[in-house]
Amino acid sequence: MAEKRVDTEDGNAYTYDELAAFYKGKYKKKEIEAYWETLKPAKGKKSKGKAKAEPEEEAPKGKKSKGKAKAEPKEEAAEEPKGKKSKAKAEPKEESKGKKAEPKAKAKAKDKAEQKPRPPRKTFKVTVCGGSGGIGQPLSLLMAQNRFVSELSVFDLNIAMVPPEGVAADLNHIETNAKVKGYVMEVGKNPIDFLEEALTGSSLVLVPAGMPRKPGQSRDDLFKVNADIAKGIVEAAAKYCPDAILALIVNPVNSIVPAMAELYKKKGLDPAKIVGITTLDVVRANKFVGEITGKNPRYINVPVVGGHAGPTILPLFSQDKTAKTIDAEKIPDLDKHVQDAGTDVVNAKGGKGSATLSMAYAGARLGGAVLAGLAGARPKPECAYVLSDVVEGLPYFTSKVVFGEKGVSKVLPLGELNEHETKRLEEVKVQLKAEIDTGVKYAESTELAA
Ligand SMILES: NC(=O)c1ccc[n+]([C@@H]2O[C@H](COP(=O)([O-])OP(=O)(O)OC[C@H]3O[C@@H](n4cnc5c(N)ncnc54)[C@H](O)[C@@H]3O)[C@@H](O)[C@H]2O)c1
Repeated sequence: MAEKRVDTEDGNAYTYDELAAFYKGKYKKKEIEAYWETLKPAKGKKSKGKAKAEPEEEAPKGKKSKGKAKAEPKEEAAEEPKGKKSKAKAEPKEESKGKKAEPKAKAKAKDKAEQKPRPPRKTFKVTVCGGSGGIGQPLSLLMAQNRFVSELSVFDLNIAMVPPEGVAADLNHIETNAKVKGYVMEVGKNPIDFLEEALTGSSLVLVPAGMPRKPGQSRDDLFKVNADIAKGIVEAAAKYCPDAILALIVNPVNSIVPAMAELYKKKGLDPAKIVGITTLDVVRANKFVGEITGKNPRYINVPVVGGHAGPTILPLFSQDKTAKTIDAEKIPDLDKHVQDAGTDVVNAKGGKGSATLSMAYAGARLGGAVLAGLAGARPKPECAYVLSDVVEGLPYFTSKVVFGEKGVSKVLPLGELNEHETKRLEEVKVQLKAEIDTGVKYAESTELAA
């Protein structure tokens, strides 16, 4: 096995080849060799290089996956709330500073690094449709704070509780680089006639536009109303930003996403650009597991797969190291708690709205992962409801998704399920299939305008 030495800068062990590959093109071979000579051999220290050499998604554009990937954008750390390793990477260890005289070659390398500024971070335009609503406003606030956002369009109707121009004026006073602009449309008009400026150049369109379910309203009634709202926006996006990721929050996600993706397909566009946001189920599962175990939910990551309504929400507690320590007999109740959490919020709000703040948090987390992927910053996989072949017979399924420079770059397999989860998956299949069919049927009966 090739010898590994510890790089004092980040405390990790690398082979000479990994180190040389990392510095190739930046420093002369002799300088790298001299630097290598100053490093101490690794004693039983695990190489983190190997983990970095096999990222869960593709390496940033133009860069082959390298063992030593320290120069990859720091955004990776910023986009990973659970990234303990990344944090260490983002904050150079104090002990490496001034402990002993820096080796000459290393000092030289540092000087050079200082002379060569990093390329500017990629930034993007984001549009929030329904941006004046209960979810839309806090979501716009969070997106305006995202480091990858340079422009933010806030779009809503003239009947919204606050004019979108007002939301934009408000957000333009916070200390971020994002320039925010509001766009209003008279209710009953067609978004394709109003959204050219709002959407052109957008890389991500977040859609919390739509009606929340009213008491007594059936899921099918809600679908019809919200599918028409989503269709208007998707139609405009197909025209003005066909390469953007359209992240749909509007319910019922299980049917709206297939409907819009099939419409994209019919128009010759990529249906994988349509993504259903189900992150709130993951956020809730992590929180509830944290409450039961007393562990910090930031370090819990329960994949929640299937769909995004009632029993189609399937948390895989067995796949998280903290959650799997919970007694098996407590799991069915915990599972149900995650499924019913949305209704619990509706009840707690006394019929005056559904989850808005936690949904905005979850939407911003997914939106952040999409943007980090587009920027080549290799975010961790996030669960999302997408076009999928993970489960036979279910062409749309919430899975662990890796976001890359073009959007969805990988849909990861389910992984191992325990007995409870295997049984629950059968239940998911029946309901989800029917809800996907509702969406597909809608798409068969209509099409996107040119
Ligand atoms: N995916 C999830 O996890 C999740 C969670 C909670 C709520 N939701 C769904 O999100 C949607 C929004 O919920 P909310 O609580 O923010 O509702 P809300 O009524 O507070 O806000 C919706 C906004 O959309 C706007 N809107 C309606 N039609 C529009 C159109 N054609 N173009 C532009 N804007 C339009 C409204 O004017 C309003 O400002 C609902 O469908 C709700 O069921 C999804």
